[in-house]
Amino acid sequence: MKKNVSILGIDTSCDDTSASLMEFDAKGHATIVSNVVSSQYDVHHRYGGIVPELASRKHIEMIWPVAEEALDGRSLSDIDAVAVCKGPGLIGSLLVGCSFAKSICYPGRIPLVGVNHLEGHALSAFLSGGAPDFPFLSLVVSGGHTSIYRVDDFGVYTEVGRTLDDAAGEAYDKVSKLLGLGYPGGPEIDKRASQGNAEAVSFPRAYLPDTLDFSFSGLKTAVKLAVEGDPSLSVEDVAASFQASVVDVLVRKIEWAMKKYGIRHVTLSGGVAANSALRQAMTRMAEKRDAEMFLPPVSLCTDNAAMIALAGYHQYRAGTVSGMELNPRAHLPLGSPELISG
Ligand code: KG4
Ligand code: ZN
Repeated sequence: MKKNVSILGIDTSCDDTSASLMEFDAKGHATIVSNVVSSQYDVHHRYGGIVPELASRKHIEMIWPVAEEALDGRSLSDIDAVAVCKGPGLIGSLLVGCSFAKSICYPGRIPLVGVNHLEGHALSAFLSGGAPDFPFLSLVVSGGHTSIYRVDDFGVYTEVGRTLDDAAGEAYDKVSKLLGLGYPGGPEIDKRASQGNAEAVSFPRAYLPDTLDFSFSGLKTAVKLAVEGDPSLSVEDVAASFQASVVDVLVRKIEWAMKKYGIRHVTLSGGVAANSALRQAMTRMAEKRDAEMFLPPVSLCTDNAAMIALAGYHQYRAGTVSGMELNPRAHLPLGSPELISG
């Protein structure tokens, strides 16, 4: 393998079209040359959620301009491999990214690597210069997933906890809709919560003792009942009280996982990892437990192609490349589940 490796990452799993060029030196140190994310906010926000058909069409329109910008003046012949997200996600959106990646790889026989979106999130800490020791625990909290992974090496993941119903980000989005705030709900609730009283309403905490699993659907129902039962409650107080419940549960669960596995290196990623209260609470907990908490910058917590390029690089280095038969999958778990998570 030559000294420096250039990987073009592509992510079209949901509603953002993203491409990133990353360079890796002989020791595997990563440099983000570019990380372009084209948001589809304008397309979807008026519907209060993502419309899959419109997302696919927008990806088709944006994929080449976004990839060209990410290439930053280089030509495809300068690229060692293309890494593309193969799932989980919206199938129409994933098909655009995968078909595009195949079309640019085929003429020059550029190696193509299919990457699980969740692996990208799980490895996000490495994007910002962090280097957690293996094994580490990775809490991935996004709009579609909430899971704790034990990461023993690049490519070696065990899902030790997962949500049994809604993802944390999904709960944020649904509560936001209920409160008449926009989509996506996370950033708006984050903002409103900072002006509210987190003790105004005592919402339940689904700790699910003896497991590392999560449940957020009961909380969403509790918010609905509280708002309907007392119209005088302020949006800020409800947002702050809801957020306190989510944050408490996430922090408590990762503490349990640290204790169970005797692991002190922890990473936080996925869109909800952009949440200011969660970042503060996780940092405080890590200080108290003398643990190392790796928090990527907010721009690398939400969906981006740099994380796909990074995960793709490690597969490429290990010789795991996909052929033209690569096909995306809407449902694609990461690693093997640990069946008894207690
Ligand atoms: O990782 P991501 O960009 O996409 C998925 O893979 O799902 O996560 C998007 C989710 C949305 O549910 C959004 O509401 C949530 O992340 N989110 C936040 C914040 N920023 C984005 N949730 C809480 N606080 C935030 N600041
Ligand atoms: Zn994501």
